[in-house]
Amino acid sequence: MAGRSAALNCRALAPAALLVCSALWLPAADSVIVKPPDGAWLSGTSVQIIARGESAKLLLDGEPLETEEPFPGVYTVTAELRPGTHRLLLESPAEEREISFHSGDEPPNSASEQYADHPPSRIACTHCHSVSRRGRFRFSGGCQSCHPKEPFIKTHSHEPHELASCGMCHDAHGSAAAQLLRLPKEQACKQCHN
Ligand code: HEC
Ligand code: HEC
Ligand code: HEC
Ligand code: HEC
Repeated sequence: MAGRSAALNCRALAPAALLVCSALWLPAADSVIVKPPDGAWLSGTSVQIIARGESAKLLLDGEPLETEEPFPGVYTVTAELRPGTHRLLLESPAEEREISFHSGDEPPNSASEQYADHPPSRIACTHCHSVSRRGRFRFSGGCQSCHPKEPFIKTHSHEPHELASCGMCHDAHGSAAAQLLRLPKEQACKQCHN
């Protein structure tokens, strides 16, 4: 994934370059089902779906979903679910993506970790996202209105602006991992440190 290698290249750069690196941490593929992740186990009876793709359509178990498009090419909808395994298809003229996920009180298998939304989960998309002047959808921040600086510095050893690409290490929409981490803690900081 291009975004990931851009972040790896941040290794050994001067602090002033960190912000530049942050700007590179942007989506790579053209069409993506962002949420839920493939294979997720959700315990509730509804699911928030987020996807990205030019002129895309979403189908849940074969049925087209009526989505909102808060930004051009970015779709979201909250769908009601029956317990069981579900297929989510993202169709765009260029490509197709498909994932499956499971809902219900019972895990689909013993290794499954339960997916949890970021608490609180239903923050307006515009709290954290905007469209750049060039028309590019982006993450524009907004975490600090709820996560103050002092505890941040303690857990991260950095000022918030130095690790402003929160998405390098956290899945801000939700995750099955503790602390919403995308990578185990040992690896998260090693993206820049040896
Ligand atoms: C609490 C802040 C927050 C909220 C609210 C939020 N997001 Fe995000 N979103 C993020 C972060 C952080 C990333 C990762 C950005 C990065 O790594 O560049 C992201 C990434 C994305 C991506 C790109 C993912 C990819 O891999 O291409 C899309 C699309 C997206 N969000 C859509 C939405 C939509 C639609 C909503 C509203 C339903 C929403 N987001 C609400 C923080 C948020
Ligand atoms: C380089 C990886 C990395 C980046 C980038 C990062 N985090 Fe973290 N974050 C972590 C790790 C690792 C933990 C777990 C720390 C622990 O368990 O000691 C954590 C824990 C947290 C926690 C829970 C603990 C606490 O301090 O309250 C919050 C909230 C958090 N991060 C918010 C953010 C926000 C907001 C951003 C962006 C401004 C961000 N993080 C960027 C790695 C990162
Ligand atoms: C509207 C308020 C709000 C915003 C905005 C917000 N958070 Fe949170 N976040 C919370 C609350 C409430 C919790 C749960 C209590 C806690 O752990 O602090 C939480 C928890 C977390 C946790 C820890 C989860 C755990 O398992 O302990 C992480 C990591 C986190 N948020 C990251 C982020 C990131 C990254 C952003 C921005 C992309 C963000 N948050 C934006 C309110 C918010
Ligand atoms: C985007 C790259 C990047 C990430 C990710 C990153 N760091 Fe750093 N870190 C740096 C740079 C560059 C320096 C040296 C400049 C400075 O002191 O601010 C540094 C310095 C430090 C220092 C000061 C001690 C020293 O070696 O000089 C500590 C401690 C530290 N980082 C801890 C962490 C932890 C913990 C994480 C994970 C939460 C993390 N870093 C993630 C780039 C990063």
